[in-house]
Amino acid sequence: MKIDVHFEPAAPLPDLTGSTVVVIDVLRATSSMVEALVNGAQGVYPAASTEEAIKLASSLGRDDTILCGEARGLMIEGFDLGNSPLEFSSENVAGKRLVMSTTNGTRVFFLVGDAVTVLACSFMNLSAVAVAAMESDSISVVCAGMEGLFSLDDAVCAGALVQRIRAAVEVDVELNDAAMGAVEMALTFRVNADFLASTSTGQHLVDIGLREDLNICAEIDRYSVVPEMDDRVIQLRAEPAGSSGSA
Ligand code: MLT
Repeated sequence: MKIDVHFEPAAPLPDLTGSTVVVIDVLRATSSMVEALVNGAQGVYPAASTEEAIKLASSLGRDDTILCGEARGLMIEGFDLGNSPLEFSSENVAGKRLVMSTTNGTRVFFLVGDAVTVLACSFMNLSAVAVAAMESDSISVVCAGMEGLFSLDDAVCAGALVQRIRAAVEVDVELNDAAMGAVEMALTFRVNADFLASTSTGQHLVDIGLREDLNICAEIDRYSVVPEMDDRVIQLRAEPAGSSGSA
């Protein structure tokens, strides 16, 4: 098994054909996707820009489509929801299609090319994604980062994911340098809201009054669900028999 971690999506990604790609954007795109899908959203349609999101929502039909996302952390004018996971309650999203545009996270889903499988991961669904990813012998973990640069929150989540996979498989696991570094970071930092607040992305959210988001984004294994993108839509994988959506 080979696991590569990529800290900066701005850097050219290798050919991901045939691999399982795990997209991580702890603050907050993949955290929000998990919360929305658990609360009954039909699916999440990532958009590469605000303009693309508006066009896509219009083509899907606005009656049961919600425009959500952020620019500089705050809800985009004219959108229905921002990007705080707590906004994605069942009252707001059950039965709805979500078209989401964010600064970093949603754009990564357009970079993964011909990967066989594309999963959305956060601390909130970490172990479930680890179990799903280890079905593949080639895993690429792509961190959304912040405006193309390294993001500590995503890197620690990537390291925690690699740790879980390595602990569960009985084969040798080859790691690239970034994966080895991510594991060490996961061993160094204790994941909680204070840790997230210490990161540059987390500090920005605190500065704009959204510190509460950090509590839910730091909740490891809040749910046991696996969001997977298929034909540009992210939906929950069917639960294995006998399991439940909650952690
Ligand atoms: C991102 O895409 O990096 C996040 O959605 C940013 C945010 O939620 O503020």
